[in-house]
Amino acid sequence: MSPKKKKRSIRQLADKKKKEMTKKKKSVSVREPRIIKNEKYIPHLLRGMRDILPVDRIYWDFVNNRAKAIAAVYGFERIETPTIEDYNLFERGTGMTSEVVEKQMYDFIDKGGGHICCRPEGTPSVVRAYIEHGMFNLPQPLKLYYYGSMFRHEKPQAGRLRQLHQFGVEVIGSEKPIIDAQVIMLSRAFCESLGLNPIIEVNSIGCSVCRKVYRRKLTDYFKFRRKQLCSDCQRRLEINPLRILDCKEKECQELSKKIPQIIDYLCVDCHNHFTRVLEYLDEAGASYELNYRVVRGLDYYTRTVFEVFVSRPQIESQLQPLLSVIEEKEQEKIESKTAIAAPIQDGQRLAIGGGGRYDNLVEILGGKPTPACGVAFGLDRIVEELKIQNIKLPKARGPQVFIAQLGDMARQKALKIFEVLRKDGFRIAENFSKDSLRAQLETAHRLGTKLCLIIGHQEVLNNTIIIRDMLSGSQEIVDQDKIAKELHKKIK
Ligand code: HAM
Repeated sequence: MSPKKKKRSIRQLADKKKKEMTKKKKSVSVREPRIIKNEKYIPHLLRGMRDILPVDRIYWDFVNNRAKAIAAVYGFERIETPTIEDYNLFERGTGMTSEVVEKQMYDFIDKGGGHICCRPEGTPSVVRAYIEHGMFNLPQPLKLYYYGSMFRHEKPQAGRLRQLHQFGVEVIGSEKPIIDAQVIMLSRAFCESLGLNPIIEVNSIGCSVCRKVYRRKLTDYFKFRRKQLCSDCQRRLEINPLRILDCKEKECQELSKKIPQIIDYLCVDCHNHFTRVLEYLDEAGASYELNYRVVRGLDYYTRTVFEVFVSRPQIESQLQPLLSVIEEKEQEKIESKTAIAAPIQDGQRLAIGGGGRYDNLVEILGGKPTPACGVAFGLDRIVEELKIQNIKLPKARGPQVFIAQLGDMARQKALKIFEVLRKDGFRIAENFSKDSLRAQLETAHRLGTKLCLIIGHQEVLNNTIIIRDMLSGSQEIVDQDKIAKELHKKIK
């Protein structure tokens, strides 16, 4: 397609979107609030959203802590950007031809008439902040990391949520291939620190100059097979044929297997850049697979792109036959509430992360030409994978001591002792809402505390407390002002 035609079709898409939004705006302004006064209202989780319950906290803390640790080791600083941003940031940044912007935006008109959205990803926000806060004046490259919720209005299914959580890192301000290699190595290190075995598929999609040549080749290739493409891909062929390579339809995937390889169309600079990235990885002994069909689904990528998958050797063989017999309908049943409960297959593997170089994004968003590279991981998929693979997590440090009380006066005193010991740095637990000693000791057992302080009416009057060894059952009475000293001796 001629550049003029392409420009026109992108503009047409933009105009169409604007018209849709204006229509929406009108309908929003006339919409009456729903009256639920006399209706029985049962609140429920929105489709594709998720509550992270305490029972899963151990997984999330583990993943977030490992993310933080890896980011620190590689010299990244944390940045937090808002969940809600201007819609245009993603239309320009993530790109009009990306599936995310085309179909999955959580966008709406706010009360002030602004067209805003819940962020679908973190990269454009980080770049916006980089430009807006003049971070280009800081020593470059700048290394930033983030984690938080992203929103994509997808059809919820296993592994595909509408509210997803990502951990991402961005290196802004260097075009050096060593940066690409290090971001890939960081990705590997992050997965390994979680006990996962990553497979990293790498490719180069060149720069805007050489990609043009390749796109022409790709268009020629698909043009003759147009009818075999799904309706979405027939449209993609006009706008951005590279998107066809991301299509999950079987027929389109089959056709994509025989496409011309992009590596043969890279210009000298892009070819050299990619060669250096691979040499760095080889030299560092970091394994990867070359896959010329990895193009990534977001419009801003240039040169190096990669996807991170997890391999689960034992599980894959058990799961594969199972998955293939789950019929569409049944798959639908697992939708929504338990959406993340079963693994999905992206091709053959579960994609837990993806990234690459985006040398034009800073300029597209109004900054000076600034090269950059990054990666983001889907934490929901990672947490699920940890469970599926039954990965042993480090045990959380439980409380060291439990305080039990009997009677009103004792409860009052216990509340105060709890605070004193907490300030002294003890990990102390209680169950003040219970009256019976038995129920309280059961809680202490459940929490696995080795020591229990017991205070009753008599102890309050004597200014003493009982220290009970929960294992042996032996008890001793100590003065209340010596509790900390005695506990220190016993806990060491
Ligand atoms: P992405 O490939 O769109 O890249 O998303 C990264 C990861 O987020 C995916 O590999 C996947 O694990 C997870 N993910 C994506 N969509 C969903 C979903 N609907 N439900 C659950 N998990 C999902 C980006 O977002 C880029 N910003 C990455 C990047 C950073 N490139 C350069 N810097």
